[in-house]
Amino acid sequence: MIFYTKNSRETIKLGKKIANYLKKGDIIGLVGELGSGKTTIIKGIVKHFSECEVSSPSFVIVNEYEGKIPVFHFDLYRIENFDEIVDIGWNDYIDKGIILIEWAEKIKKNLPKKTIWIKINIIGKNKRKIEIENLKMGEKNDK
Ligand SMILES: Nc1ncnc2c1ncn2[C@@H]1O[C@H](COP(=O)(O)OP(=O)(O)O)[C@@H](O)[C@H]1O
Ligand SMILES: [Mg+2]
Repeated sequence: MIFYTKNSRETIKLGKKIANYLKKGDIIGLVGELGSGKTTIIKGIVKHFSECEVSSPSFVIVNEYEGKIPVFHFDLYRIENFDEIVDIGWNDYIDKGIILIEWAEKIKKNLPKKTIWIKINIIGKNKRKIEIENLKMGEKNDK
């Protein structure tokens, strides 16, 4: 599925729409250069599940947003390999909630086949091409 957005508000809205189809245990890998909108779309996704404020977890690697389904937000910008994520407790996070990973391509080979991919390309100052792979748009979850 391919979407185009022309401002961050539209990207947040798309995130909220995607969130309707996510369930506990889902892993979402976000790919796109710095400033493409990974954190922005995550804001929309998280809004569906939690009242918590989304912030980039660049220094702590993972943020947790409490809600009906907890959301774990990873940012692997400073990570070199998968071992570092295992060290901070990766295995305790999976299955406990929804996992959102910025710079997920860095650990692509360690992620399950079921991983949902969101790939964002900057195609203009405010225009983004957003490709979503592997999202099953069946039944909506309830908030
Ligand atoms: N269509 C758009 N979608 C998302 N962000 C946009 C868009 N147009 C402009 N922006 C801006 O681009 C930046 C995206 O930042 P951010 O979401 O933090 O990116 P990343 O997490 O990929 O580094 C923000 O400053 C946002 O306002
Ligand atoms: Mg970011």
